[in-house]
Amino acid sequence: MTKLWGGRFEGGTDPRFEAFNRSLPFDRRLVVEDVVGSAAWARALQKVGVLTVTEAMSLIAALAEIEVEVVRDPSLAAQSDAEDVHAFVESRLKSKVGDLARKLHTGRSRNDQVATDLRLWMKRAAAEIDAGLIEACGALVALAEPNAAMPMPGYTHLQRAQAVTVGHTLLAYVEMLARDRTRLADCVARFDACPLGSGALAGTAYAIDREALARDLGFARATRNSLDAVSDRDHVSELMFTCAVIGVHLSRLAEDWIFFATTEAGFLELSDAVATGSSLMPQKKNPDSLELLRGKAGRSIGRLTGFLATQKSLPLAYDKDLQEDKEALFDAVDTARDSLAVAAIVVKNARFRADRCRSEASKGYLNATDLADLLVEHGVSFRDAHEKAGIAVRTAIEHGIELEQLSDADRARLLPELARVSRADFAAALSVEASLARRSALGGTSPVRVAEEVEAWKKKISTWNNRS
Ligand code: ARG
Repeated sequence: MTKLWGGRFEGGTDPRFEAFNRSLPFDRRLVVEDVVGSAAWARALQKVGVLTVTEAMSLIAALAEIEVEVVRDPSLAAQSDAEDVHAFVESRLKSKVGDLARKLHTGRSRNDQVATDLRLWMKRAAAEIDAGLIEACGALVALAEPNAAMPMPGYTHLQRAQAVTVGHTLLAYVEMLARDRTRLADCVARFDACPLGSGALAGTAYAIDREALARDLGFARATRNSLDAVSDRDHVSELMFTCAVIGVHLSRLAEDWIFFATTEAGFLELSDAVATGSSLMPQKKNPDSLELLRGKAGRSIGRLTGFLATQKSLPLAYDKDLQEDKEALFDAVDTARDSLAVAAIVVKNARFRADRCRSEASKGYLNATDLADLLVEHGVSFRDAHEKAGIAVRTAIEHGIELEQLSDADRARLLPELARVSRADFAAALSVEASLARRSALGGTSPVRVAEEVEAWKKKISTWNNRS
């Protein structure tokens, strides 16, 4: 194995340690970024006279060839025995331009190099996650549109609480994922700074225009402190935090939908495309896609907390512990991206069952608050109204009926304030349609409000798509 650091050493490396130390098996995912960063470094070295124009040009041309080769054949890096991606790129460079390759590392360290590669990679990863968020939001809004007015039971404590619309429920997840987009953008804006030119820890000894170098690589700015720049992995934690929150959000959707798809609830029909059967029980249709979405959240949280623990108490500046950033980050990003893609497929193929949603929303005293509100309308204070409605619910439970089915005698006895309300008006006021329509203030579940929100989201998402 060609090493980048042989001179000082007399003895060989223990093969087990060598394997333990190697990062190429995973950091080869940074190969394009390493090549791009190296070309920018060659341009910067040429500007300060370390490389002649001809030297810089042949290095840059060779790096461009390497980029084409590794993109065409990813197994090139997989088969190499180099220590890490940086050694791999340098050895290929050497095979193309000979000893000139040995000049490229002037004034650079693998510490600022890997920090730069990783930030470049993260920008691409963030863009992919963002596209996944947009896709999932679009799918949820598309499903919310035809279901804007469809009632279903809403829950708190997983107990039936009040009727809501299916559309409103779906847009709740859109709110979560749209917040994740802003979290992602915040995080990218914070790490959009180029560490290259920080050297190993103390800065580079060459008069590199680091702001120009940063711009050359598409960064908004250059980092300001070399010690921090080579040891900072806040952005890795932040992106993993964003992935973990996305995982948490998808796990909440998954949990709701697993319940919605049970025979007991029956609100939702999942597509065969995202369900599996049982090898034993012929009737089973299991929501494995949703269960995995729920399960993967744990994995994402683990990646974040694991790498935070790795960073705890690390001394300045670079320490090899930091090599642990990559597997954690790659896994967190892959998991978030794949989860979003699967969530979008689940949503696009799901069907809410109007019959069940409607009938279940009209059962189980979801309109008890509406009865209290009706009493308030007739001059009763809310606290008293709450008490009276509660007694009415208890009576209805005893008779095994709904509130609107209470006998005239019971109504007269329990709700005398409503004496002038006809039976039909009483039933209408307690209907699920009336209950939903009443909640039309901003943020409420009324069909009119939800239809407006659907329109607003559609507009927003089309601007998101136009920009990306
Ligand atoms: N493979 C290393 C990493 O991922 C690259 C940086 C190595 N730096 C060093 N001083 N050994 O962190």
